[in-house]
This record gives sequence, C-alpha cells and structure tokens, in this order.
Amino acid sequence: MAHLIAPSILAADFLHLGDAIQLLNNSEADYIHVDVMDGHFVPNLSFGLPIIKQVKAIADKPLDVHLMISNPQDYIQEYKEAGADIFTVHAEVCPHLHRMLQAVQKAGMQTGVALNPHTPVQILENVIQQVDLVCVMSVNPGFGGQQFIEHTYQKVKDLKKLITDSEADTKIEIDGGVNKDNTRRLVDAGADVLVAGSAVFKADDAKQMISTLKHA
Ligand code: DX5
Ligand code: ZN
Repeated sequence: MAHLIAPSILAADFLHLGDAIQLLNNSEADYIHVDVMDGHFVPNLSFGLPIIKQVKAIADKPLDVHLMISNPQDYIQEYKEAGADIFTVHAEVCPHLHRMLQAVQKAGMQTGVALNPHTPVQILENVIQQVDLVCVMSVNPGFGGQQFIEHTYQKVKDLKKLITDSEADTKIEIDGGVNKDNTRRLVDAGADVLVAGSAVFKADDAKQMISTLKHA
C-alpha cells in the first residue's frame, strides 16, 4: 500500500485555519493531523474541542487526533462528538491502556497509541491487535519544527516486526521532523503514515509539498 500523508495543522496560520483546511481538502493529503496539547503532559497548549468541531464541519478528510494530554480517558465521548476519526493517546499516560482501547473502539473511533522517543515498542506487545495506528514520536512532543531523531528508523523496523509477528493490521505513523529528505527512508523502514507540520505549512507551496511527500 502506498504511504499516507497527514499534514499537521499545528503549523498552519490559526488566523486563516479555514483556508488551511480547504487547501488540505484540495490536496493529496489523506488525513488531517490534529495536535491537542494540555500544557501538562507537554509543556505547550494548542487547541481543543471547539476548534476541532469547526474543523470537522468543513474537512473532507478523516481527522487524526493526537492527544498530548494527561487524562484522555475523560474525553472519549467528547472527541467522538467533535468529529475525531482516529483517537490517539500517549502510552505514557495510560496505566490501563487495554481498557482505553476497548472504550475507544466502543465509541466507534479508530484506536491510536503514541510512543515518546524513550518508550520501547515492546510496551504494545500484548495489545497490538487492538491498535489501528501507532504514532511513533520522532521528536519530543510539544512543539512543531523540531529536529528528527535518527533512532526512529530502528524503532520503526522493530515495530514493523512486532506487528508482522503478531499478524496485526496496524499502521505505523511517524510524527515530528518529517520532510522530503527523510520520507523515502522512513517508508522503506515500514512507515505507513507520515505526519508533516512545518514541512508542509512553511513551504512556499503547501499543496505541492504534500504531493512531493506522497510520491517521494
Ligand atoms: C509535535 C506534534 C507534531 C508536530 C509536527 O508534538 O505531535 O504533530 O505538529 O510538526 P513538525 O512536522 O513541524 O515536526
Ligand atoms: Zn502530532
């Protein structure tokens, strides 16, 4: 399967967010990646439910919601109602990850689990069958525009093996520092979905950059 592109609106111009969504609607983007930060799990705040609702109203593509928040279990129904298609939580904040995955499935969303750079992929061994998407953080979460962590390539290979050995149908997503120079190597290592914030929205032609990443 060809890899998917998920531009992150964290890097868009918030004063013209509607234009950014229209641009993504008219592009080769597959998902719209939505970064929610609570100023607690990560040292930054972004946006939450009211903005996601408004984005959903005009978005033609699935919303890939990445929750960088301490208590995602308290908001499952709210994000479903706001329009999240993929509900991604951080493994580091979920002592009851299995229960969380069940609840997200029950709410009718796809399940996602994000792993910080220091979190080993083995933590997913006993739940991988229930995970639709693993978001491998290739920067420390909290900010766009950071430098890609090179160890990610090895982590993607390890995760790919875990998924294959478990005969699971789980997508591998890479989040942070993705650009046209590392796309090919990430896909070759096993990546299925590439998140790109700055690479897309700071480009002279965002739509063209999405196409470049898609066909790299
Ligand atoms: C980081 C976010 C990323 C961010 C990626 O905490 O999860 O999705 O928007 O931004 P770039 O592509 O600029 O590294
Ligand atoms: Zn993200």
